[in-house]
Amino acid sequence: MDYNNLLVEINDGLGIVTFNRPKALNALNRKTLEEFIDIVNSLNANDDVNVVIITGAGEKAFIAGADIAEMKDMKPLEARQFMKLGHEAISGLEELQKPVIAAVNGFALGGGAELTLACDFSFASENAKFGFPEVSLGIFPGFGGTQRLPRLIGKARAKELILTGKMISAQEAFEIGMVNRVIPTKDLLSETIKVASTIASNSTIGVKLAKAVIDKGYNLDLANGRALERSSISLCFAGEDQKKRMTAFLEKGK
Ligand code: CAA
Repeated sequence: MDYNNLLVEINDGLGIVTFNRPKALNALNRKTLEEFIDIVNSLNANDDVNVVIITGAGEKAFIAGADIAEMKDMKPLEARQFMKLGHEAISGLEELQKPVIAAVNGFALGGGAELTLACDFSFASENAKFGFPEVSLGIFPGFGGTQRLPRLIGKARAKELILTGKMISAQEAFEIGMVNRVIPTKDLLSETIKVASTIASNSTIGVKLAKAVIDKGYNLDLANGRALERSSISLCFAGEDQKKRMTAFLEKGK
């Protein structure tokens, strides 16, 4: 597929996807969501990619939400199909079998903030702003935000953000656990690449299974979660990677 609204760069084990509709502050229209579904599937299948970074083009916005111009005249059925497309795009990202880091470089509003919730973790630039302004537009978050936000930051905090529609700073987003780090704006991408490269240098199978076990185990009780951990870790011993890495450790010791 040719991408009109995304830039994709693959280098040194990293796949960097940049939402690129700066005139609309990278808002998510149908075309962008379709392109995103395609690139996520293709990165999942690409053995040259170990870690994915998601960011936005320009200095102002990560993603300013779903495209309001496209939604304005939608009938209920069209709206339902649009939200389904958004869910498919964002759930596809969440289910990607490789770590995904959001580098939030400006406004992350509505669908843009919802997209960060499906990443494994997010870093934000000092000028980033997060918010769920949907209730001011006669709707409410429709790309999974009502479900993922309370699970990440707790129900009461999620309700305050979603029901007021207020914007918060990167620092506030950090304090409530929506982002892992706040980084000076000029260093955001390079710092994100550093962390992604550290992950990419680790065992592919170890990283992939750790992510899967954390995600799947999160909704299990502790005993079943531990059982999942035990059965999954045995798979690491089936290939060459673990043998090579442990041998290298022991030989260096000599
Ligand atoms: N959809 C479509 N176009 C958008 C957009 C969006 N979500 N956000 C910004 N734009 C467009 C503006 O219409 C404007 O276009 P023109 O230059 O053609 O007029 C351009 O991007 C620049 O935006 P502003 O002039 O508004 O820039 P600003 O600096 O004054 O304000 C902003 C920046 C505070 C982010 C403001 O643009 C804004 O509030 N955007 C909308 C944010 C929003 O409400 N997002 C939620 C969308 S609903 C949603 O996401 C539903 C869901 O859950 C699925």
